[in-house]
Amino acid sequence: MKSIIMNKILAVCMLALFTSVSVFAQETDGNVKNGEKLFKDNCTACHALDRKLTGPALKGIVTSLAAEGIDKEWLHKWITNNEALRKSGDKRANQIFEEYNQTAMDIFEGRLSDQDIDDILAYVENPPVPEEAAPVAVQKDDSGNLSYILLSFISIGIVLIIILVNINRLVKLKTTGADLTELQATRIKTLSQFYERNRKLSYFIISIILALSLYGFWGWLMGIGVDKGYAPDQPIYFSHKIHAGENNIDCQLCHSGAKYGKVSEIPSLSVCMNCHRNISEYTGKYVEPGKSKEFYTQEIKKIYDYIGWDEEKQAYTGIQKPIKWERIHNMPDFVYFNHSQHVVAGERAIMADYNKKNPNNQIDVVCKACHGPIDTKDVAKMANDFTMGWCVECHRTTEIDLDNGYNAAYFNQLHEKLKKEYGEDKSKITVDAIGGLECGKCHY
Ligand code: HEC
Ligand code: HEC
Ligand code: HEC
Ligand code: HEC
Ligand code: HEC
Ligand code: HEC
Repeated sequence: MKSIIMNKILAVCMLALFTSVSVFAQETDGNVKNGEKLFKDNCTACHALDRKLTGPALKGIVTSLAAEGIDKEWLHKWITNNEALRKSGDKRANQIFEEYNQTAMDIFEGRLSDQDIDDILAYVENPPVPEEAAPVAVQKDDSGNLSYILLSFISIGIVLIIILVNINRLVKLKTTGADLTELQATRIKTLSQFYERNRKLSYFIISIILALSLYGFWGWLMGIGVDKGYAPDQPIYFSHKIHAGENNIDCQLCHSGAKYGKVSEIPSLSVCMNCHRNISEYTGKYVEPGKSKEFYTQEIKKIYDYIGWDEEKQAYTGIQKPIKWERIHNMPDFVYFNHSQHVVAGERAIMADYNKKNPNNQIDVVCKACHGPIDTKDVAKMANDFTMGWCVECHRTTEIDLDNGYNAAYFNQLHEKLKKEYGEDKSKITVDAIGGLECGKCHY
């Protein structure tokens, strides 16, 4: 009897839960896909779904605020202009502002419409489960080349040892004045006899050895100035996998120079502090084999040490230590490389070309075409050769973006001329056509 009543109660509860969920689902009528994009573009610099960054975690924010009696309208006001809401004396707005050390959130008035905000809220309320990540293609490396070099060095070594041993024997014989024993006599005789009788074969063997060692030496020479894979120790163990990968932080939030000029720049520690004022411990799921959460937490504390931040008092001490990041990429002074030319003007062309050539390894930001999948690497490495041949190869094969908004006017003029020069049938116009192989474009 008792159990029947329990079952009924349970059934009623389930029904209630179910209807409230479906009523709620009807309420969040935003476009989740658009919301996801807007969230990534505007909010991930400070917010994550399920953990605290500069601002609070936002997953399920509509329901959790509803539980406190705060409606969606409040959220609209807050996201549109949090400052105005605070100034209006709104209690919750001021309370959360204090809770986050008075860190001001961006104002989105005029940047996001009401529908946009609904879309974002729909996304953070029910973020779709991410699909299984596509397997990352194994990166090609130079170890093949290295083994050739090793092989040729070993063969040279063996030949040298044989020669030395024989010379040593002869010298010994001479100094001791002893007669050649029968055995030694036959041996030396057979070696020279071998040479006498099989001249052609001997020449052949010698030339193979010579060719191998030359090839090795050439390979070694070509390797000079190619630092692919270079990954120096850094003053703080900074993981791109954790920042750009696990936490989806946009490259340009930190490397903000890439859009505007020649260099991308390593971010200053005050950029780090935008987030690390509040993130003082590592609580993420991802831990690199051989490392621990405590290790990561200690590395975060190093930021405080360098910049002079007293965690207890939550204030700067004014005592700073300069931090020196080891540069990984460093072109010689006579080379002119401009990021904005590639990141802004060339973005579409480079991405389209890369994704066409690598159908199984698509990139979502242009940077990865040159810097590789750095968001999957614990330690930043040089992902390509960064030699002249590498620049030129891409300029030869990448079709430029002829209606590139950045310099459309220029190209429109050029278009007809190029078509005449390259012929109508050659519809492919690559970077070399606009001067991408002229020495003066890349050299001072
Ligand atoms: C520059 C950093 C920054 C950006 C960008 C940012 N926020 Fe915030 N957000 C904060 C901070 C910090 C807080 C905590 C309150 C405070 O200090 O103002 C906050 C609070 C919030 C809250 C209130 C949560 C609560 O519990 O009351 C919501 C909702 C919110 N942000 C949504 C968004 C959305 C949506 C976007 C993107 C359109 C966004 N934020 C972009 C920093 C940011
Ligand atoms: C949270 C800040 C942050 C984000 C986000 C970030 N980086 Fe970095 N990046 C750094 C720091 C700090 C260094 C210097 C330490 C190192 O080399 O690991 C660096 C180094 C680099 C270097 C090597 C620079 C050199 O010394 O030559 C490259 C290339 C790079 N980042 C590319 C990227 C790309 C591409 C992305 C996006 C997928 C990205 N970064 C996202 C902070 C960031
Ligand atoms: C066309 C290839 C290419 C693309 C695309 C590219 N980079 Fe670079 N990057 C380079 C080269 C080449 C250097 C070395 C420049 C030098 O030493 O003068 C470099 C250097 C860097 C450095 C070291 C500091 C500096 O500026 O010299 C950082 C950081 C960096 N890139 C980040 C980025 C980010 C972030 C993006 C995407 C927004 C990006 N790069 C896109 C080729 C590229
Ligand atoms: C946009 C926010 C943001 C910025 C900017 C940022 N970080 Fe982080 N950082 C994070 C997050 C999120 C984590 C992971 C925290 C967690 O999962 O508990 C993290 C973790 C770390 C860790 C521990 C894991 C690791 O990478 O070794 C270190 C160290 C660190 N950050 C250093 C830096 C440095 C140095 C800078 C400035 C160059 C910086 N961070 C800038 C958000 C940021
Ligand atoms: C991944 C392909 C790629 C690589 C690698 C690359 N570039 Fe480019 N580069 C481009 C594209 C695409 C453009 C054309 C951009 C545009 O539409 O204006 C360009 C344009 C240029 C221009 C301007 C050419 C002109 O006539 O206006 C210069 C200079 C240049 N790159 C230098 C370099 C140097 C130096 C390197 C090597 C360190 C390099 N690039 C590596 C794709 C690449
Ligand atoms: C697309 C860009 C680009 C163009 C065009 C270009 N170079 Fe270079 N060149 C480079 C880069 C990058 C390096 C540095 C390579 C390194 O450090 O490994 C370089 C290096 C050199 C060097 C030094 C030797 C070496 O290989 O390191 C010489 C000499 C040189 N270039 C001559 C020329 C001449 C001559 C032309 C015109 C026919 C030319 N370059 C056109 C990008 C370019």
